[in-house]
Amino acid sequence: SFPDDKFRSQIHFTPKEAWMNDPNGMVYYDGEYHLFYQYYPDSTVWGPMHWGHAVSPDMVHWKHLPIALYPDELGYIFSGSAVVDWNNTSGFQTGEHPPMIAIFTHHEPVGAEEEGNNTYQYQSIAYSNDKGRTWTKYEGNPVVPNPGIKDFRDPKVIWLEDFQQWLMVFAALDRVKFYTSPNLIDWKFQSDFGMNDGSHGGVWECPDLFQLQVEGSEEKKWVLLLSINPGGPNGGSATQYFVGDFDGKTFTNSQDPNASQWLDHGPDNYAGVTWSDIPEEDGRRLFLGWMGNWNYAQVVPTEKWRSAMTIPRSLHLTKNQTSGVYTVASRPVNELASLHTKSVDFEKESVNAGTRFSLMNTDDLGLTVPFKSEFTVNTSGRQSNFRLVLDNPKTQEEFVFRFQDGTLYGNRAKSGLTDFADNFAHQEATAPFQQLLKEKELKVEFFVDESSIEIFLNDGSVVMTEVFFPTEGFTRAYLISDDNPLEINSARTTQLKSIW
Ligand code: FRU
Repeated sequence: SFPDDKFRSQIHFTPKEAWMNDPNGMVYYDGEYHLFYQYYPDSTVWGPMHWGHAVSPDMVHWKHLPIALYPDELGYIFSGSAVVDWNNTSGFQTGEHPPMIAIFTHHEPVGAEEEGNNTYQYQSIAYSNDKGRTWTKYEGNPVVPNPGIKDFRDPKVIWLEDFQQWLMVFAALDRVKFYTSPNLIDWKFQSDFGMNDGSHGGVWECPDLFQLQVEGSEEKKWVLLLSINPGGPNGGSATQYFVGDFDGKTFTNSQDPNASQWLDHGPDNYAGVTWSDIPEEDGRRLFLGWMGNWNYAQVVPTEKWRSAMTIPRSLHLTKNQTSGVYTVASRPVNELASLHTKSVDFEKESVNAGTRFSLMNTDDLGLTVPFKSEFTVNTSGRQSNFRLVLDNPKTQEEFVFRFQDGTLYGNRAKSGLTDFADNFAHQEATAPFQQLLKEKELKVEFFVDESSIEIFLNDGSVVMTEVFFPTEGFTRAYLISDDNPLEINSARTTQLKSIW
């Protein structure tokens, strides 16, 4: 079990203590999901980066392991990825089993920048022959030296089966760069993407590239995830994506280059990438993000540790048959069902304006945080707002479902502790859901933990992730309609047990 610290997430991964940011090196190997992460063990704010490490049989329950990579004479260990080198292309295998290779950015510490030198970030590798428990850095590092670009980081490596070679994609200021390699050591530049595509309100970071099949069709497309900070739709950090084609060397955007599509419309899902080497028979594209935002993550009011990861999600590609627009949907993984304890089902009901429809209530229903709820409401003819409210006698977190303009609006101004950063309370979140109003029902699923909520509309087509710090734990969750009655077709709340 885990110390019951104030605000400690019970269904999300957190480090035992100290500072954490991006998930790194997510790879599946021999029954274990590995999660490495940006970690500074000596403080609760960002500092010289290490790779922390944890493993899980199901992406839900985690075992903390010793730090995997420490800073060295080439610098701090920034974000990156890991792969299993099944064919020992690298030659690093020592025993019977294929080695695991980590590909990361070395960042030369302070000083480099002042000297007007832009070459202080470069890509390096390390290998492990004992299932990620111990690592050896390659002596020829870096494997991708820096040609003079200030922001040059966050390599994600994938195996291109069709071309029998490795592909590295990483962020370089306002674009991503693609390199290929036969052996993970010798890398050749292939192309750039993105200078004229998507959002450029901040620096590009943490890309990922993978193929997805369009749901209900044989069509396959490539998805490029790309985190940007600042410049997110609601301020600060956020993750956009592109859908296109990839020929082994070049990515071509299939969608409007001026449009920005966001994986999550909340303020707190950043630097997320997907797991490598998920067995083919599983077939899912599995994702985890950092539940934080650079606008305030270093000053949130947790004492021993800072930041949690999102719940694991699988990514799915849908295509609108009329507009031809592709959307990436995020769905909570089924493995989370192992946390379910008791459920309460609610009857179909038409709830008058101003009357609360209780989804969670500690006093009457005996339910507490953490929990998840799902409900469906009629959309037809609906013109006015309804709200989803989490509260306790002192504080309140509110989400307004605005039907007039099809916008989900999150407001944490009164959610508890908010004054630790100017831009926390007023970082209002909006997510457009007009598209979903074409369906007869709006389906909402949300997960509430001690200091976060993750909301999924219509099977993850629209997502909003937000952190908050209530002075006391929330004891109620309810729906309330502002003017006309709210037609609730179904609702269920499930108590969740702690993952620790
Ligand atoms: C994203 C990021 C990465 C970098 C890491 C440093 O949050 O800025 O670009 O590698 O964090 O900790």
